[in-house]
Amino acid sequence: MTDTTARPRTDGGVVAPAGGAVGTARTRLEGRDKVTGAARYAADVPFDGLAHGWLVLSTVARGRITSMDTAAVLGMPGVLGVVHHGNAPRLHPAGLFGPDGQLQLLQDDRVPHVGRPVALVVARTPQQARAGAAALTVTYAEEPHDTVFRAGHPAGRPAPAAPARPDADLGDVEAEIAAAPVVVDQRYTTPEEHHSAMEPHASMARWEDGRLEVVDSNQGSFMVARVLATLFGLDQEIVRVRAEHVGGGFGSKGVGPQLVLAVMAATLLRRPVRVALTRRQVFSTTGLRPATEQRLRLASDSTGRLRAIDHATAAFTSTIQEYVERNTEASNVMYAADAIRTRTTVVPLDLPTPGWMRGPGAAAGSFALESAMDELAQAVGVDPVELRLRNEPSAGPVSGLPFSSRNLAACLREGARRFGWADRDPRPGTRREGRWLLGTGVACGSYGAGALPSTAAITARADGSYTVSVGAADIGTGARTALALVAADALGVPPESVRMRIADSRLGAAWFAGGSKGTASWSWAVTAAAADLRERLASVDRVPPDGVTGRGDTTDAIGALGKQERQSYGAQFAEVAVDTGTGEVRVRRMLGMFAAGRIVNPLTARSQLVGGMTMGLSMALHEEGARDEALGALVNSDFAGYHISAHADVPDIEADWVEDVDDSNPSGIKGVGEVGIAGTAAAIANAVWHATGVRHRALPVRLDRVLESGFPAAR
Ligand code: MOS
Repeated sequence: MTDTTARPRTDGGVVAPAGGAVGTARTRLEGRDKVTGAARYAADVPFDGLAHGWLVLSTVARGRITSMDTAAVLGMPGVLGVVHHGNAPRLHPAGLFGPDGQLQLLQDDRVPHVGRPVALVVARTPQQARAGAAALTVTYAEEPHDTVFRAGHPAGRPAPAAPARPDADLGDVEAEIAAAPVVVDQRYTTPEEHHSAMEPHASMARWEDGRLEVVDSNQGSFMVARVLATLFGLDQEIVRVRAEHVGGGFGSKGVGPQLVLAVMAATLLRRPVRVALTRRQVFSTTGLRPATEQRLRLASDSTGRLRAIDHATAAFTSTIQEYVERNTEASNVMYAADAIRTRTTVVPLDLPTPGWMRGPGAAAGSFALESAMDELAQAVGVDPVELRLRNEPSAGPVSGLPFSSRNLAACLREGARRFGWADRDPRPGTRREGRWLLGTGVACGSYGAGALPSTAAITARADGSYTVSVGAADIGTGARTALALVAADALGVPPESVRMRIADSRLGAAWFAGGSKGTASWSWAVTAAAADLRERLASVDRVPPDGVTGRGDTTDAIGALGKQERQSYGAQFAEVAVDTGTGEVRVRRMLGMFAAGRIVNPLTARSQLVGGMTMGLSMALHEEGARDEALGALVNSDFAGYHISAHADVPDIEADWVEDVDDSNPSGIKGVGEVGIAGTAAAIANAVWHATGVRHRALPVRLDRVLESGFPAAR
């Protein structure tokens, strides 16, 4: 890349010296604690006098609460209280990214969807609370509801341009399409999908000496504490939130309903209250990936060079909060074209509010774009790897901005080499092995990279140890371990002398474990703190008993960064076998090659990428929230009904990366949390086409859909 103005060393030239820790595979610092059960999750931490809250969820999709028979429940054994809209503390507008209607719990009698918390029953034991919640009679004045999503729904409205990238309008899409010899024009649909972190959401709240203490399962304790303070009208100084160990988040662990209700109950009852969700409650009330319907029009010349990309997407949101699924992001950055147009529509329905779910926007968006690219390759008669290489842009196709680094072409070439792509017969439906039809597919993906403002502190002790304090969250990613490696190199010391303190709002402002920007953001702050500490240490003869502390804050440095296109990229290859008798699709092997900046810990980075690909496999073949139209309720809110790929569904998945030097920020890190799921579903669906000759434009590619497609006769 040639842009030099975009790389100011405004942090004072802090670049980690080559200490050798970064880039070496390390097992997790807390790994032993986790596998021996010593690591405590939010619901495991004991407290004196702990009471237990149990959620009561609405059973109607729209209406008003007309009565709630709390008296009967209050007389039940162990029951200490019932929190509801008649007695709940009043809340102020607050949210992680602006006021969030989802957090305004128990504020009035309105019911916006099935599964909305309408009360919390608090008792001495979880069993008593559960019995009380089951016994609480709530009556509703029901109103007609609408929970059926479709793109042309009359309630649909254009998504606001901010805060994400606005819709694109480059060139004249209609003119290019009219003049192009090859046009693909198709619709793709993806269903409602649900996060299923191994650890269900749980929170404990208590008041102690006028301070609110919270033990939570979240993706960023500082940001959660800030929201809580605003929500309850408290000084953030008196609010402390910790989330030492978190068993997965995938975007679902922001400010959870269980946290807001635990704080309410602790405030009303003046005792510690824990609220832990059941798996069904996680399905009902902690966010989801909205269903999408996307229309893709691709136009090219006879060699496959793109003249137009026209990507229109629609997804649902709730009536209480506008969540926008940014499916068109990839169409802004993946391929060069003379004209690019994107449109994003949100359809508010009587449904739970969607939210971030691993690869938000990209997971479903890449399914549409990368399926359409495969269809274009077929229409033009060009190999799908070659088609993508032919449309490689030299700068942001819409923005015109330079890429901080890209290297997607290297991913495609190296991936094709390792996968054995050159031997592929492009004709569909030609490889047979007994009752199986075999096929291979490729797709690309990207996810936004970058860093967001964070702070960190490092204290050097006289015994030669260093304590790194940063408000990071380790949601199972290995962030704690990665940050120790970054700190070790930045300090020029072995990782063994570094101790990590994370996941505590008292450690100062820090970005969330989200948007694939956690490690990049925190590492930069840690690196800056190390530089400050080294300067301070240089001016003392020896470390005093209480240590020397260096501090870093990246706010100014990030604010001074030039504009660039910053993304992680990946190319994914899949081989599937389709059972000609049952229509069952089995993935036989997958390979993902990624360009994701500097890789801090190859062991955990690979796990992140393989995990993303596994979730993409699950999305391609299994995951689908099913709603009953008459009730507006999710009918498969458990692991019996909501299918997730299990071990037997997941073959050996390989993930690796190409050299990708992004020196647009001193950490050089791009993030690996989400790019692994971008493109996976398309790679698999494209492989199913190659196996059978039939396109699947609706996810998941269920066996009934494969059978009903008329395959293999249809080819
Ligand atoms: Mo991620 S969906 O930003 O946790």
